[in-house]
Amino acid sequence: MIKDLWYKNAVIYSVHVGTYMDSNADGIGDFEGLARRLDYLHGLGITCIWLGPFQKSPRRDDGYDISDFYQVDPCFGTLGDFVEFTNQAEQRGIRVMIDLVVNHTSDQHPWFQEARKDPDSKYRDFYVWSDKKPENADEGMVFPGVQKTTWTRDPVAGQYYFHRFYEFQPDLNTENPLVLAEIRKIMGFWLELGVCGFRMDAMPFVISTKGPQPRHRLRYEMLREFREFLQWRRGDAIILAEANVEPKNNQHYFGEDGDRLQMMFNFWVNQRVFHALATADTRPLVKALEQTRDRPANAQWAHFLRNHDELDLGRLSEDQRQAVFDDMGPDKDMQLYDRGIRRRLGPMLRGDWRRLEMAYSLLFTLPGTPVIRYGDELGMGDDLTLPERNCARTPMQWSTEPLAGFTRSNKPVLPVIEQGPYSFHKINAADQRRDASSLLNWTERIIRMRKEVPEIGWGDFKVLDTGYTGVLAIRYDWRNNAVVTIHNLGSESTEIQLRVGDEKGRHLVNLLTQDHSEANGRGVHTIVMEPYGYHWYRVGGLGYLLECSNE
Ligand code: NOJ
Ligand code: CA
Repeated sequence: MIKDLWYKNAVIYSVHVGTYMDSNADGIGDFEGLARRLDYLHGLGITCIWLGPFQKSPRRDDGYDISDFYQVDPCFGTLGDFVEFTNQAEQRGIRVMIDLVVNHTSDQHPWFQEARKDPDSKYRDFYVWSDKKPENADEGMVFPGVQKTTWTRDPVAGQYYFHRFYEFQPDLNTENPLVLAEIRKIMGFWLELGVCGFRMDAMPFVISTKGPQPRHRLRYEMLREFREFLQWRRGDAIILAEANVEPKNNQHYFGEDGDRLQMMFNFWVNQRVFHALATADTRPLVKALEQTRDRPANAQWAHFLRNHDELDLGRLSEDQRQAVFDDMGPDKDMQLYDRGIRRRLGPMLRGDWRRLEMAYSLLFTLPGTPVIRYGDELGMGDDLTLPERNCARTPMQWSTEPLAGFTRSNKPVLPVIEQGPYSFHKINAADQRRDASSLLNWTERIIRMRKEVPEIGWGDFKVLDTGYTGVLAIRYDWRNNAVVTIHNLGSESTEIQLRVGDEKGRHLVNLLTQDHSEANGRGVHTIVMEPYGYHWYRVGGLGYLLECSNE
């Protein structure tokens, strides 16, 4: 049984167990610590946790280099601790989704170790080999500037192996049915332990043919097979794909009839949200919303602002990208891989609370399901002295206690931010709990409101004309109910004239403040938008529950 397509109206919180809460004073966050913080998360109101990789791993890519798919890395606890955690999450109505990293393994994985040693081993064909260095070996690196090649010679095998990512992450040969059987087994295993689905890492690369030949094909049929397997085992389990692709390909991932993936991250919109925040020109964002409008009724977009990686701006035009760099990451060391910004959201928006709230309010009102990242509910900052993406992965700042209350060890797995405006002395959960006007309490309120506005997750949207490119107004309709959300991305106060549509649209009831709006005789609302202001209105009145139809 499908439990009501829960993912259509969820609030997802992404967290990495290692930097969240350390319970045993070894400096590394663990499942016991995370479980103890479930009440905090429950209070915040999130409905689903997306957990970064925690399986056994040499951790050379923050756990995205797995050496045993069936073990919790001992530094985070045991399988027992994991099951305790998922159970306690379930008690609070919180689902747990985990990363499924099967495009590649660690080079320390026993499969790779076997494969390199023995050409006759069944594991040899688990990976992708070539006798000679392929001509295109210097193309297609995901981490340009850090990663030099996609083919590296293994002295033990005497052959080159393919790696889309770092050289210690050999790609799995997903054309091999034995590899696909292993992937199913891994999914089945974690489903039994209580997870509700998978954030599937590097999806386009998983389904691509691989090898030294220059041309490759995407085997989309695989997606339906994954989904079917998942649903045989657990009806409400889903796949959320990491696939940064062009809109014309979305249909292939969701499936024409909604028979492939339930969810995808909307990278296309994400990049244009940042462009809009940087320039106060919402036109490219509106276009992106239109371009990604079409999806099967049972599929859903996951929208986000920042995640654990760099903000990838690779799908913007050069001018657009430069505009985002200029505003949010002007220095070279704020940028990464020739295409993105590696900072956290707080510093990117210069710690301007009004702008942060507006950006989050915008995220929560995009057509889809919002995904937030741990620490962003506090406005946490980054540490640019750390390499690559680690700068935005510092430990959660719980309190003003030493090491932010994250650990009692003086050797945290990554440094805690101790200095400057983003230090834990200034930004931490305990202080913000006590302050009714804090970002944390604001986030709790906005999540609560978002859950009461299912139109955004389920409904159809229409962008309304505001007369200003810096002000975005969206109307959502679902089951005879409608809401309108308006965001001013600019720093200037503006008065807009807005037509909402039907007769009911004459009354707009503000959901966040007392500032309601009545249209004039011609059906036009005059609404003042403060700098970075935002409004959420219910159209007509608050009696929406009474009018809910039973379709
Ligand atoms: C995407 C993940 O988000 C990133 O952190 C990781 O480095 C690569 N995939 C490789 O697994
Ligand atoms: Ca620990």
